[in-house]
Amino acid sequence: MFKRLREPDSEWVTIEIDGESRRVPKDETVAAAVLADRIGHCRTTPVSGAPRAPYCLMGVCFECLMEIDGIPNRQACMVPVAEGMVIRRQNGAGSVVGLQVGTEKDG
Ligand code: FES
Repeated sequence: MFKRLREPDSEWVTIEIDGESRRVPKDETVAAAVLADRIGHCRTTPVSGAPRAPYCLMGVCFECLMEIDGIPNRQACMVPVAEGMVIRRQNGAGSVVGLQVGTEKDG
């Protein structure tokens, strides 16, 4: 469905998506790599588990949420790939990093 218009002359980097190693152009975003490498969906919805893939590619729709380098809920369309990056599809709602509910008294 998607393919790169040209093979880039620039550098390539190696990333890992769901445990599988892939070579992608250095100047791509994670979402572009997901689409061009035909990964399929990047997340599933929290309610029905329906698969979702990048849609707007400009940080508006939030369909591209993935876990990137251990941090969930990152917009894959806004994150450039980097050598050694570890990416996972996000199934359902991702946890909120740094949120501690009910551990401190309001005041
Ligand atoms: S594809 Fe829409 S926010 Fe990333």
